[in-house]
Amino acid sequence: MNAQELRSKYVEFFKSKEHAQIQGKSLIPENDPTVLFTTAGMHPLVPYLLGEPHPAGNRLVDYQKCIRTGDIESVGDPSHLTFFEMLGNWSLGDYFKEGAIKMSFEFLTSPQWLGIPIEKLGVTVFRGDEIVPQDDESAKVWKELGIPAIRIAYRPREDNWWGPAGATGPCGPDSEMFFDIGKEPCGPDCGPGCSCGKWLEIWNDVFMQYNKTADGVYEPLARTCVDTGMGIERTVTILNGKKSVYDTEIFAPIIAAVEKASGYTYGSDPEKDKSVRIISDHVRASTFILGDPKAVTPSNVGAGYVLRRLIRRAVRHGRKLGIEDQPVENLKVLSPIAAVVVDQLKGPYPELEENRARIIGELDNEEQKFLETLQKGEHEFEKLLPNLIKDPRKIMSGRLAFKLYDTYGFPIELTDELAAEQGLTVNRAEFDEAFKKHQELSRAGSEQIFKGGLSDHSETTTKYHTATHLLQRALRLVLGDHVAQKGSNITAERMRFDFSHGAPMTPEELSKVEAIVNEQIQRDLAVTMAVMDLEAAKASGAMALFGEKYESQVKVYTIGDFSKEVCGGPHVERTGTMGTFRIQKEQSSSSGVRRIRAVLE
Ligand code: SER
Repeated sequence: MNAQELRSKYVEFFKSKEHAQIQGKSLIPENDPTVLFTTAGMHPLVPYLLGEPHPAGNRLVDYQKCIRTGDIESVGDPSHLTFFEMLGNWSLGDYFKEGAIKMSFEFLTSPQWLGIPIEKLGVTVFRGDEIVPQDDESAKVWKELGIPAIRIAYRPREDNWWGPAGATGPCGPDSEMFFDIGKEPCGPDCGPGCSCGKWLEIWNDVFMQYNKTADGVYEPLARTCVDTGMGIERTVTILNGKKSVYDTEIFAPIIAAVEKASGYTYGSDPEKDKSVRIISDHVRASTFILGDPKAVTPSNVGAGYVLRRLIRRAVRHGRKLGIEDQPVENLKVLSPIAAVVVDQLKGPYPELEENRARIIGELDNEEQKFLETLQKGEHEFEKLLPNLIKDPRKIMSGRLAFKLYDTYGFPIELTDELAAEQGLTVNRAEFDEAFKKHQELSRAGSEQIFKGGLSDHSETTTKYHTATHLLQRALRLVLGDHVAQKGSNITAERMRFDFSHGAPMTPEELSKVEAIVNEQIQRDLAVTMAVMDLEAAKASGAMALFGEKYESQVKVYTIGDFSKEVCGGPHVERTGTMGTFRIQKEQSSSSGVRRIRAVLE
């Protein structure tokens, strides 16, 4: 069974059980600064799981594109992927444990659907703890359906509890389904959920029973819900008796494209095979990020940074395959691979075809930029070489390696490789030390930025800082809630404020915003600060920077009844001291981002 058949069968099955098919959502989450990407099918459905009625009804089915980058370093092994598709069925206050488990069982085992033999299946249920009792109800249903007790494992909260990671929101115990690949058990305790490789997870039924509040309290939900997730790539792997997701028809054309681009034949060398898999995964993920209606482009922050890392990692692994033995101008290695992904998945994801030009263009551009960086670094290395080879111990200092990294962006792995080709070893301890120091410095630097993008804390810049809060709120009132701060920069003379908005502002909008800010200044509002944990801050409605990493304890600045933001400060004590706010200029900053320059007079 291929991915397309699995996708259609799943949707067809749940439609036959009165589920309405809904559209999967963007990879870039809306109104959620806690995550950079949609990580599970339930993500876009959180408001409905919490009680909001869904326009399509109480039984829903969909497939959702997801990205998880937590395991990016593991990509290349047989099972890890950054991009994957998740199939899901949802009950919003309709069926609960019994209904969900019975449908899962039917879809998995019925010959009309997946036809997996019962003896290949094992399941886990929640073991219970001081907060929530053991899930005997789910275990009972599985037993009645014919799963023997020995293949029903009770597992702790780490394994069988689902909710938005560490955050507030809908959560509850889950029951996971595993496929037994037939390997010998690893020991007497080996059972479903064991990580020895015998049991592969294919599906997860989550029973949403609680809303975890900002105070850490589990409030029972008035309406219990079901959220399930089946990974398409993994399930296709299992159904076809493959050992690795990369051996399925999903990856076959992509790997063929990598072979074509590199001239390397997959299967000839284990190290290079790993690079092929990394390129395949990373190009697939980059294609989906660039092909999303809310696409980001490569940058040094947030989701754009993840994209840049994916692309650059793919380029580096391409070089390991010998792709670089061509003039740089001719190298457009990643985009032909991306074109294969577009062709393959434009049916279920028409946005890929619609955005084909952007996908290709951005990939070519970023690849080119990175290759130039690499060439510059190599050139510098060659200049150092005559001195380096004079060292009798054949050691290249970590300080020099760090300089290549710091000045030219040249990755340490490549310095290592170039050095090794000359019989040299890089002093990694010294490099690591310099690198760590640099990281600490840049962290201190970003701490500075976090403190409000202020060049110093003089009285004037403090006033401008408070003005950015007033401005953000005023922009949201006039233009709408899509407005969010994208950056700010303050000097003693002026402020600049970047924010998301798709069109130039009209003169009327500008004067409205100006008037609202000045009104708040005239009201002489008090500015107060409270320290609270991040979750409580968000729950209180405070604005936070999208994509920003915060400590668990944050400061929240409130300006009268007008504005509330997570922020490092400092701010004026009362707005009445700020003078008159005047917008000097409004212009484009980058795609979808506008920039305002303003002064306080
Ligand atoms: N939210 C659960 C998961 O991601 C089930 O969809 O596994």
